Amino acid sequence: MLGRDPQHQALARTDRSTIPAMIEESLRLLSPFTSVGRVTTTDTELGEQQIPADQLVMVWLGAANRDPRQFSRPDVFDPTRDPNPHLGFGRGIHFCIGAPLARMQGRVALNQLLDRFPNLTVDPHQPPDFQPNPNMTGVRKLALHTT
Ligand code: HEM
Repeated sequence: MLGRDPQHQALARTDRSTIPAMIEESLRLLSPFTSVGRVTTTDTELGEQQIPADQLVMVWLGAANRDPRQFSRPDVFDPTRDPNPHLGFGRGIHFCIGAPLARMQGRVALNQLLDRFPNLTVDPHQPPDFQPNPNMTGVRKLALHTT
């Protein structure tokens, strides 16, 4: 997202304290795990749907993270979003136990990348090649210009 938008990247470079919020916003907009599975323990009603007990339910975190009832301009990368109650790390008792580590790794990696490459842009002729997997978001190939 920062390679695509020079303004956001410039802000990240000049004010590194904005990086954690940028990581949160990328987890919302490009949620690495787009769905998680649950099994109903009892007959349940959800969104006016009757779901019997013992059914596998796929919960689309990626869709919830773009729910216009929660997020204004949901398809826009807005690193100033506050609050940003995204579900990128899940919710409840199974909330990702590795979230603090993942957030720290993201901060370190992004800071290093910005330090090492003063110019970093996505090649406009080679858009990111995303994995063809509806349950996960990740790029197989991301062509960047470094000068
Ligand atoms: C950006 C990186 C990561 C994302 C987006 C992510 C996302 C998630 C999500 C959505 C869940 C909830 C699954 C569910 O509710 O069924 C989860 C659970 C979990 N994550 Fe992560 N995760 C990340 C990194 C990590 C790391 C670095 C670790 C370990 C070092 C980790 C370990 C776990 C474990 C053990 C659970 C299961 C927790 C439980 O069931 O109580 N994750 N993660």
